[in-house]
Amino acid sequence: MRPLTYTGAKHLIPVANKPVIFYSIEAVVQAGIKELGIVVSPHREEEFKIAVGDGSRWGVKISYILQHQPKGLAHAVSCAHEFVGRAPFLVYLGDNLLENGVTDFVREFERGHANASIVLYEVEDPRSFGVAQLKDGQIIRVIEKPKDPPSNLAIVGVYLFDEKIFEAIREIKPSWRDELEITDAIQRLIDKGYRVTPHLVQGWWKDVGKPEDMLHANRLLLERIMTQIAGELDGRSQITGRVQIAPGAQIKNSELRGPLVIGEGALIEDSFIGPFTAVGPRVTIRHSEIEYSIVMEGSQIEGIGRIDHSLIGRNVELTRSPVKPKAYKMMLGDNSKVGII
Ligand code: G1P
Repeated sequence: MRPLTYTGAKHLIPVANKPVIFYSIEAVVQAGIKELGIVVSPHREEEFKIAVGDGSRWGVKISYILQHQPKGLAHAVSCAHEFVGRAPFLVYLGDNLLENGVTDFVREFERGHANASIVLYEVEDPRSFGVAQLKDGQIIRVIEKPKDPPSNLAIVGVYLFDEKIFEAIREIKPSWRDELEITDAIQRLIDKGYRVTPHLVQGWWKDVGKPEDMLHANRLLLERIMTQIAGELDGRSQITGRVQIAPGAQIKNSELRGPLVIGEGALIEDSFIGPFTAVGPRVTIRHSEIEYSIVMEGSQIEGIGRIDHSLIGRNVELTRSPVKPKAYKMMLGDNSKVGII
C-alpha cells in the first residue's frame, strides 16, 4: 500500500468514504461487544485516536493498547492480556471486512464450550493465508501460509479465545518471518488437547492488503448503498443508479452513474463519475472522467481524460498544465505508481 501508508495507516484508508477500520468496529459493536481495545504501534497511536476516538460515536468504550515492536499477531494479542483479563474475547484484524459481520460467530461461541474458535472461508488459492485442515468437521491442523495447502479453507482474521491462548502464546517460537504467529498459537492449543472449533462463513470476505483489494472492497461496499442526495445537483446533471451525495457537495453539468458516493463539500463539474467510485470530502473534479476508483479528501482532478482503477490519496493535484512544453509534469512520492498510455 505504499506510498499511501507512508503518511497514514492502511486501516484508516477510506472505502466507500469510511475508514476500513470503522467497518470492523461496527461489526464488533453489532455483535454486542462494548469494550474494545485497539492494538497500535506507538507511532500510529495519535493518528488512530484522532480518527477513531474513544468509541462514543458507537456508544462503546475504545481503549488503545501499545505494541512497541511489530513482533506478530500473537504478540499483539499478548499485549492485550491485561486489557482482556480472564474473560473470553474476540480478536478482529482491522483490515478484514466480512459481508455478514461476526454476530453469528460470537453467538455460536457463547453457546458452546470451546477454548477458541476460528473463522474459515473457502478460497481458490489459500497460500497467502493461514489454512485449516478439518477431519469430520473438527480442526486437526492449522498452518500459516503453506506452500502446499492441505485444504482450501483460509483462516479469516477474526478469532475468539479464552485465556488459554495466553498460555499457548508463551510456548511458541517466532516463525520464518520472525513473528509470533497467532496460527502457531492456535496449533499449540490443538496440540495441548484444547477445543478449537471452526466457523465457516458465507457472503464475501476481503482482506485489504493491496490496492486492488481496496478497490474491490470499495466496490463490494458500494453495491449495498441506498440513494441519498443531500448535496446540490443542477438541472444539467444526470444521475443513474444508486448515488449518495453528502451535504455541501455540488454537482454541475455532470453525469453520475452509480453506485457511487460523493463526500461533503466536493465539487463535480463538467465530469463523468462512473460506477464503484468513492469521491472523498472536499474533492474537486472538473472536466474529467473517473470510474472504479477511490479519491481521498481534498484532492483536485482537472482536465484528465479518463481515470480508471485508481487509488488517489489526500490533497493530490492531478491537473492538465496550461504551460508549455506539452509534457507530463509530475511530483510523485516514493513507490507511487502511474500508468500512462
Ligand atoms: C494474518 C494471519 C493469517 C490470516 C490473515 C487474514 O496474516 O496470520 O493466518 O489468514 O491474517 O487476514 P497476515 O495479514 O499477518 O499476513
